[in-house]
Amino acid sequence: NGPNLNLLGTREPDIYGTMTLEALSAKCELWGKDVGFGTTSRQSNSESQLIDWIHRAQKDGFYGVILNAGGLTHTSVALRDAIAGVAIPIVEVHLSNVHSREPFRHQSTIAGVCLGSIAGFGPIGYQAAILCLSQHLNDNQLEAPI
Ligand code: DQA
Repeated sequence: NGPNLNLLGTREPDIYGTMTLEALSAKCELWGKDVGFGTTSRQSNSESQLIDWIHRAQKDGFYGVILNAGGLTHTSVALRDAIAGVAIPIVEVHLSNVHSREPFRHQSTIAGVCLGSIAGFGPIGYQAAILCLSQHLNDNQLEAPI
């Protein structure tokens, strides 16, 4: 989770709902368990931290990443390049329907290098992303953590 997602629960609740990031992370753990995967949730407001996490994800023992890049989705070439530069599958997720909002949110720099994208379903979008990613990992040769 990228910039400003630490404010979930109180941030523009009409758009992002009232679930806190902590509660969402707890849900993700349950949704992961449902499909046989452990999950770790992380959030940073820093683009460089997100890039470092992506670079290290496989080494850190992860099979895949679900990424809500927040506003960086619409601006960050560096984040796109980080995703393109690693073998680990990454699913883009957004709580809101970015395509029905301001025109600057219609563009994603990362969508083209992600496995797929889910937007507009609130927290359940994370569950959908976990399900889709687990299906992908089960269907394909798992790129084992290194
Ligand atoms: C968001 C959508 C982005 O446009 C916005 O900048 C966010 C949250 C979402 O989850 O809907 O920070 O990624």
